[in-house]
Amino acid sequence: MFKKSMGIAVFAAAASFSMSAFADAHSSGDPVKGEKVFKKCASCHMVGPDAKAKVGPPLNDLFGRTAGSVEGFKYGKSIVAAGEAGLVWTDEEVFAYLKNPKKYLRKKLDDKKAKSKMAFKLKKDEQRADVIAYLKTFSKPAE
Ligand code: HEC
Repeated sequence: MFKKSMGIAVFAAAASFSMSAFADAHSSGDPVKGEKVFKKCASCHMVGPDAKAKVGPPLNDLFGRTAGSVEGFKYGKSIVAAGEAGLVWTDEEVFAYLKNPKKYLRKKLDDKKAKSKMAFKLKKDEQRADVIAYLKTFSKPAE
């Protein structure tokens, strides 16, 4: 009994920590710093008027778009399945995805075999918030 309630308390603390880490990092997301962070992404992704698919899909108009939905890009099965199940990219979802795309898809799909074609992780909360702020400058403002 004691053990069980401890477990719940620890889980709740962890959940609220990661939520507030997002809120804090997110509210301070800096697009200028994010442009530097994007250099890590730029070997695989393009943004801007001439953006095309490279190793990864172009990231213009990312926010509000269904995951795995850029026409003509050959996504992995798992991200397409997540999009078909209703995953739409928001700040929160991209923030979670970038930390560990494979783990993120496994959790979303509840499938231990889910795979990601994106072999890159951005661990630091602040860098994820900053790159999101930068990517937002290439998305239409939310209505
Ligand atoms: C080594 C290459 C590589 C790097 C570096 C990389 N990505 Fe990706 N990214 C991919 C690939 C490949 C996919 C497609 C994933 C799939 O099909 O499972 C992808 C998918 C994505 C998606 C989902 C797009 C969609 O249309 O659903 C986002 C968002 C994303 N990447 C953002 C980033 C950001 C931001 C960075 C830098 C912090 C980054 N990626 C770094 C290769 C990369």
